Amino acid sequence: MAVDGVGIMVVMSTFLAITSNPEPHSLTEATAAAFLRGAGQAGADTQLLDLYGIGFDPVYRSCDRDHYLGRGPMPDDVRAIQSRLEGADVLALVFPVYWYTMPAMMKGLFDRVICRGFAYGEEGAPGALAGKTVRVIMLTGSSRGWYESDGVGQALQNQICHQTFTKYCGVTDVEIVYVDNLFMGDDAPRRRAAADSQLRTIEGMGARLAARA
Ligand SMILES: Cc1cc2nc3c(=O)[nH]c(=O)nc-3n(C[C@H](O)[C@H](O)[C@H](O)COP(=O)(O)O)c2cc1C
Repeated sequence: MAVDGVGIMVVMSTFLAITSNPEPHSLTEATAAAFLRGAGQAGADTQLLDLYGIGFDPVYRSCDRDHYLGRGPMPDDVRAIQSRLEGADVLALVFPVYWYTMPAMMKGLFDRVICRGFAYGEEGAPGALAGKTVRVIMLTGSSRGWYESDGVGQALQNQICHQTFTKYCGVTDVEIVYVDNLFMGDDAPRRRAAADSQLRTIEGMGARLAARA
């Protein structure tokens, strides 16, 4: 929330992009930046959470299990990320597809952070993410034909959107968006041009979501 020149409270939506890529100059990061740039130009408050950048530990450990079983507190590093998620109206998870799904770093966000006691309650009731907007932006080496064939895209849609976010977390506005036909190393400026039009689409998506909020 902000106060404008004549003292009227202006409600600004907050967009948080969470990225997973070991290379800070990767196309993954460029995609998140495009999304946030579009949202920012349309008036949103924008934030980035780079999981590699903060040294996030994605491995589910005894402290996570103890918390799940009611024997220990929410781990501090988990709690810190949860408060970032809680403060956002729109979340974008941006990552390259590794072996038909998300990379281990992003999976750790689901395993450790989007957990019981935060994202859903003991009886499965939706928690802190309910009602938020989520966009899952996946970068793929393959083309549209890959994720539209053999049930690949359907499996991701079911697992991430329907089961995890909608059924457990109460997030109904959730969509997967692909940035496809890439090569590892498309972050090199010459190759990056190939993805320019897709990044402009992502930027437009950020702008439209912000204008809607
Ligand atoms: C371990 C690994 C597994 C991959 N598996 C897939 C896959 O299942 N489908 C696909 O389309 N691309 C796959 N790729 C390709 C990456 O998704 C693609 O190159 C992406 O653009 C990498 O992003 P980056 O250049 O920003 O790191 C894989 C890459 C790696 C390293």
